[in-house]
Amino acid sequence: MSKVVILNHPLINHKMAKIRDKRTGTKEFRESVSEVGGLITYEITRDFTTRPIIVETPICETTAYELDKHVVIVPILRAGLGMVEGIHNMIPTAKIGHIGLYRDEETLEPQVYYQKFPKDIIDGVVLVVDPMLATAGSACKAIEILKAHGATDIRYVGLVGCPEGVSRLQKEHPDVPIYLAAMDSHLNEVGYIVPGLGDCGDRLFGTK
Ligand code: PRP
Ligand code: URA
Repeated sequence: MSKVVILNHPLINHKMAKIRDKRTGTKEFRESVSEVGGLITYEITRDFTTRPIIVETPICETTAYELDKHVVIVPILRAGLGMVEGIHNMIPTAKIGHIGLYRDEETLEPQVYYQKFPKDIIDGVVLVVDPMLATAGSACKAIEILKAHGATDIRYVGLVGCPEGVSRLQKEHPDVPIYLAAMDSHLNEVGYIVPGLGDCGDRLFGTK
């Protein structure tokens, strides 16, 4: 069974309050989603290995440590884009792939419309980024595609999950750890997370 980490950190909770509030406008919503992406990165990278390097400080030579893995950030379009800048600011050497998926509004099944990945997905750590883990149809499909392209070390990174989505993702991809800012109550009858934050893509891009 894959690991599930719910951040539940005061700084993240503070920003999540803004993100959840329906009065929050597009600019502040977008900035806060990106900031939570940055804060979550601290936890996602906790077990990353490093290699020693020798650097010279203004005082003397010393051993310092740098990341020794390639990292690839793969946002699920559109809403995943909102978290990319925050994560990329923390790991500026990361490459970025893209998966275009949307949920069919009737069936809630994911429809794939775009995919483009850097070669590093094969030997690097791949962060699949999507703020909303609802039915998990989108996350499972994205991970299936990445595995078919050779990715073996995949982590899912989101803002809000629910028990239904987490258990499906754990069942279909037990090797993929799940990192979320918050775990909500349930899915409603039209597949939205309750209490959630509404339609993340629309709120990020002002499309409704
Ligand atoms: C939203 C969200 C996820 C998906 C989650 O995307 O960004 O990708 O729904 O739902 P699921 O877990 O039930 O698959 P949406 O389909 O609304 O597309 P968008 O990001 O382009 O708005
Ligand atoms: N997608 C969203 O944007 N919000 C939800 O609550 C569920 C799926």
